[in-house]
Amino acid sequence: MVANGDLDGKLCWTQATGGDGWRGEALWEALGSDGRDERREESRVEDADKVEIRRGSWFEPLEDVKGKLMGVISNPPYIPTDDLPGLQPEVGWHEPKLALDGGKDGLDHLLHLCEGLSSALMPGGFFVFETNGNKQSEFLVDFISTKWSSSFCDVEAVLDFADIKRFVRGYRR
Ligand SMILES: C[S@@+](CC[C@H](N)C(=O)[O-])C[C@H]1O[C@@H](n2cnc3c(N)ncnc32)[C@H](O)[C@@H]1O
Repeated sequence: MVANGDLDGKLCWTQATGGDGWRGEALWEALGSDGRDERREESRVEDADKVEIRRGSWFEPLEDVKGKLMGVISNPPYIPTDDLPGLQPEVGWHEPKLALDGGKDGLDHLLHLCEGLSSALMPGGFFVFETNGNKQSEFLVDFISTKWSSSFCDVEAVLDFADIKRFVRGYRR
């Protein structure tokens, strides 16, 4: 989803969903397949004319806005594959595997997104990702700060309400 709301003409990309995620299908339905809200009167999506939905894998549908995004917000699949059978029933039974499975250590999608950030974001652009918690967040902060220190600054983990390092955020230099 690419939003050009009250951002002074700048673009923000949020991975609202993808693949077969039910939220994405609901949003798709609400906004219309061209990203326009065909039923705005009934829809709960406000300012839908400032939102465009693009379908595809991660940054693939965003080639034309490369280097122009002021923000990237994502909650990608991050559960390690071996942990999937132990999830609470309300998650494990109803969410598709595609929405949860982050590969062996849960980092497959997060690392892919991190790699795409340096070309997707404009200078000064921000990013924030949700992670599986402390261990993943700490790894990503360290990884981005060391491997891409010339591209990113102020990378840090952010706590959730349970004091778990749930998010990683930072800025494009
Ligand atoms: C943890 S869910 C988050 C859903 C929603 N963003 C939210 O915050 O409630 C992860 C989402 O990533 C989507 N996804 C998985 N692989 C993807 C890919 N290659 N490109 C884009 N989205 C993908 C899944 O379909 C799923 O909807």
